[in-house]
Amino acid sequence: MINYTTDQDIAIITWEMTSSPMNVLNDESIPQFDAALQRAFADESVKGLIISSTKPEFVAGADLKMILRSNDKPPAEMLKVTSELNRIFRTIETSGKPTVAAINGTALGGGYEICLACHHRVALNNPKTVIGLVEVTIGLLPGAGGTQRLPRMLGIQAALPLILEGKKVGVQEAKNLGMIDDIADSPVEMMDKARAWIDANEKPLKPWDEIDRKTGKIVGKDNFKVPGGNVQSPVGAQTFSAGTAMLMDKTKGNYPAPLEVMACVYEGLQVNIDRALMIEARHFVKVATSKVAKNLIQTMFLGMNEANKGASRPKDQAKTDVKKLGILGAGLMGAGIAYVSAQAGIEVVLKDVSVEAAEKGKDYSRTLLQKGVERGKVDPQKVDGTLNLIKPTANAQDLQGCDLIIEAVFENRELKAQVTKEAEPMLAPVGLNVLGSNTSTLPISGLAQASAKAENFIGIHFFSPVDKMMLVEIIMGKQTSDYALAVAIDFTRKIRKTPIVVNDSRGFYTSRCFGTYSGEGMELLKDGVNPILIENGGKDAGMPVGPLAVTDEVALDLVYKIAGQGIKDGAIGEDDISYQVAKKFVDLGRLGKKSKAGFYEYADDRSKKLWPGLQDLFPQTAQQPTLDEVKTRLLYRQAIEAVRCFEENVVRTKLDADLGSILGWGFPAYTGGAISFVDFVGVDTFVKTLDRLADQYGERFRPTEALRERAGAKTLV
Ligand code: NAI
Repeated sequence: MINYTTDQDIAIITWEMTSSPMNVLNDESIPQFDAALQRAFADESVKGLIISSTKPEFVAGADLKMILRSNDKPPAEMLKVTSELNRIFRTIETSGKPTVAAINGTALGGGYEICLACHHRVALNNPKTVIGLVEVTIGLLPGAGGTQRLPRMLGIQAALPLILEGKKVGVQEAKNLGMIDDIADSPVEMMDKARAWIDANEKPLKPWDEIDRKTGKIVGKDNFKVPGGNVQSPVGAQTFSAGTAMLMDKTKGNYPAPLEVMACVYEGLQVNIDRALMIEARHFVKVATSKVAKNLIQTMFLGMNEANKGASRPKDQAKTDVKKLGILGAGLMGAGIAYVSAQAGIEVVLKDVSVEAAEKGKDYSRTLLQKGVERGKVDPQKVDGTLNLIKPTANAQDLQGCDLIIEAVFENRELKAQVTKEAEPMLAPVGLNVLGSNTSTLPISGLAQASAKAENFIGIHFFSPVDKMMLVEIIMGKQTSDYALAVAIDFTRKIRKTPIVVNDSRGFYTSRCFGTYSGEGMELLKDGVNPILIENGGKDAGMPVGPLAVTDEVALDLVYKIAGQGIKDGAIGEDDISYQVAKKFVDLGRLGKKSKAGFYEYADDRSKKLWPGLQDLFPQTAQQPTLDEVKTRLLYRQAIEAVRCFEENVVRTKLDADLGSILGWGFPAYTGGAISFVDFVGVDTFVKTLDRLADQYGERFRPTEALRERAGAKTLV
């Protein structure tokens, strides 16, 4: 609902949507907002307007479900919505009545575009408020004037990075950057400041507007000078040419939105604002109807929200709350888990073999908190309180009363069994009573044998570095109960991570699929492909690092150890490529990045170059494949493994599979994730391409029967 009230001669329009959790621009609110504005413009007793909200946020942006609905429809429909918004926002600017945005809370995307259309912006000083044009992060661009008004206000050099990076800033930074004009310390002061501005500015005119001599109406000025220089100025020209090249290199053409932003700003700033808005609308429709935007919105925004709310949580289980957490092992992972848990207000008992080792684990939190303070991300007053939540110890008795204990000792079955037996009796008998293992490779059902309560034993697999990686892969052992799953998911949500749920299997879901990326890199080497081409293929496909570089990071002795275990368990044969290559490298003492020698050679200045000796081990063939073929092999190899995991019920839902692939091992987000990738390329194309790859390179590519049956379908699931 959009409320309309007047306070003497000022109209106050307040957003208070009841039909959605947040204030958003959608089919319902847009006409209501328009009607409220028209009422104020038409009322002669109203001399100015204040736009605000009664909810915690100002306006969070456009309703992405609305955008998704239009994604499948003809572009003309999307253009209609965009043009309508532009018309409404432009009337704010040209009505002749001063309009102030009283920004009481977060204003993102379309929400901030409302503010930009206003003549003045005053924000309430609230540490939770964020402001920005975040559209590119979901494959869109600001389509309601943002790409045109912000550069006209701040200049090209200041505005472009904000739009291209989709940066969200706090109130003070927004003021420093010029994104808002004033800050108020209380809601009353905010409204007072808004009123005072209206009183002092009778007929405001934006610098890019002028009054038409004939009609007396406000129209866009033709020769508006952009602050700091327009697009043809030396600074402007340099920004656009260097920026475009940089973006091409960064996005590899996989993400169209940033380049469209560049084009949009470049073209728009050369004409008056009215024409510029039409240009922007055209570019907006182009990205908003793209498959990439659809994928990003579906998986990275709506899907992630769903997962964060606990989509995979068993519905019949009562809500649980971990207040006291035990962690066994204060190494890299244990220390990271302690940090994120204490940050969420959980009391942590951090146990290692000695107090010194446990203290060292706690020091990790101290360092991260200090860094956070330096960067303005952590409130200095909260540092001690957070640190006090972590109790380092070498005494298992201190674990008494923990709701949940997570084991993160060395990857060794016997040791894990021993610490499980030691810690389990310490769990609060009336508390939640769950034990989790952070193992990255050992099957959970096997580890659960050491537990007296296998139904309460579960895998809680974090990724390194824990504070940065959003994903937690929760692994159900054969006996794990829904109760334990609920506890693990509730805990994951409390520490603000994204959970996915998988069933026990070798490598679980993420490591199993990730292994195929690294493995296919080695297959390509074996086939005589130039290693530069292999690495570029990975990066061009949208993976964060090439397959050989990432294998170096994992370490070849670890790959060798895991593959060796796979052979022992009968899961793979000795001809397995990862085993063969890793063995060769371990024999040569080239263990990867940690030994400064692997597929690459690492210099002291942190630079790296491919090891020339690769040529002797894997002679290159005269006939090299195209970059596209390398990309196809790398992406399809991961996607078919994800499909197999899905069919085998290793991963339980499409959403978990997609999110796990993007957040867990860096599968490119523009595809929507490793399962959505199949729809992205088309099921039929996927199957045909796999058959061709299988014929050419090996059976590992061969589509499954179930997949073949779906070949004619529009979507895989
Ligand atoms: P780490 O070697 O850094 O730390 C292990 C810690 O366990 C050491 O501080 C050690 O002193 C301690 N420890 C050994 N015996 C103990 C005992 N009886 N009681 C208490 N503490 C004991 O190892 P990291 O990297 O933290 O790995 C821990 C676990 O997490 C392993 O199972 C590993 O597979 C898994 N993991 C590791 C990831 C990584 O990237 N390093 C990612 C995901 C999982």
